[in-house]
Amino acid sequence: MRVYFDNAATTPLDANVAKAMYDVMTGYYGNPSSIHQEGRQARTLIEKARKTIAGLLNAAPGEIFFTSGGTESDNTALQCSVRDLGVKTIITSKIEHHAVLHTAELCHEKFGTEIKYVKLLPNGHIDLDNLENLLSQSPDGKTLVSLMHANNEIGNITDIDRVGALCAQHGAYFHSDTVQTIGHFPVDARKAGVHFLSASAHKFNGPKGIGFIYINSSVKVKPLIHGGSQERNMRGGTENIYGITGLAKAMEIACNEMEAQREHISGIKNYMIERLEENIPGISFNGDYNGDSNYTVLNVNFPPGEAAEMMLFSLDIEGIAASGGSACSSGSSVGSHVIKELGATPGATQVRFSFGKYNTKEEVDFTVDKLREILKLAVGV
Ligand SMILES: Cc1ncc(COP(=O)(O)O)c(C=O)c1O
Repeated sequence: MRVYFDNAATTPLDANVAKAMYDVMTGYYGNPSSIHQEGRQARTLIEKARKTIAGLLNAAPGEIFFTSGGTESDNTALQCSVRDLGVKTIITSKIEHHAVLHTAELCHEKFGTEIKYVKLLPNGHIDLDNLENLLSQSPDGKTLVSLMHANNEIGNITDIDRVGALCAQHGAYFHSDTVQTIGHFPVDARKAGVHFLSASAHKFNGPKGIGFIYINSSVKVKPLIHGGSQERNMRGGTENIYGITGLAKAMEIACNEMEAQREHISGIKNYMIERLEENIPGISFNGDYNGDSNYTVLNVNFPPGEAAEMMLFSLDIEGIAASGGSACSSGSSVGSHVIKELGATPGATQVRFSFGKYNTKEEVDFTVDKLREILKLAVGV
């Protein structure tokens, strides 16, 4: 048996998405920029997908630009705001994804952009009073706030409507990395008052290597990737028509199934919390795990010990895929920057279990039994 509890890293492809992509792969080969019939057919697919996505986000089709995924969308939002909008200060947090943190650092090195990090509350939430304070020190129109909707390691959810309102009050641009929430929570681009949103299909049972950036129509930026005039001059390169079709299909399915999946996946997360508390002495959880939290993510502290240190490897051998943090930091010795910011429990080992629509409660039982074996606790007690 294999149990896949690493859905925040990536999710399995939905069979209906695979089917939609296959139909495009075998039935369409024109270059969407070509004016002949084959080209026009491919272009129609792209525009249909754009319209679907825009409708699900309460956005206009002209505000959706396809990218290679979350990383490129985050890069576009930050680098283009600094280069094209006169942004001099980026306000972000130390627990953002590296696609934001490293890009902010690049903006600092390349353009001298000032980076300000908003304080965190003890449970890992953004201190909104501190954000307001930082915003009030920043001149209008020169600041970009980049705060993620849900943290990929601990699951904390930020109230992006409130952040959007604060940004509007202080004349700041607002980017939210919604990679972990699009397809899992309703996201309304108009209501949140965002200027930029980043999304990635592989986090909601779509294909890897495709995503989009929402750019509010009031914002005029130039491309990050230069070349042809694709994406209305916003991103050069022949469009990934299979990926785009898969992305739109996956988002449509995720949004249609959202309520049912939310109930199913929250049930699994809550059951995991319950079973871990009953079965593993000294266990604790990071972030606001039973409050404003993404129902797909549970970040666990295992008490110090030799077995805990080897936990991810032991789980994998026992048939369970989990992660030590974000996919790019798991397996590396640097540890998680998010857990470090939260003030990790000394000596504890963190494991992120993240759930998806194909998981079951039986898999939770299997995992908890294996954890007891790994930690050398008697099984079935
Ligand atoms: C919050 C967040 N932002 C950005 C990314 C990067 O997305 P992608 O893998 O599509 O580049 C990820 C995925 O790991 C993520 O979790």
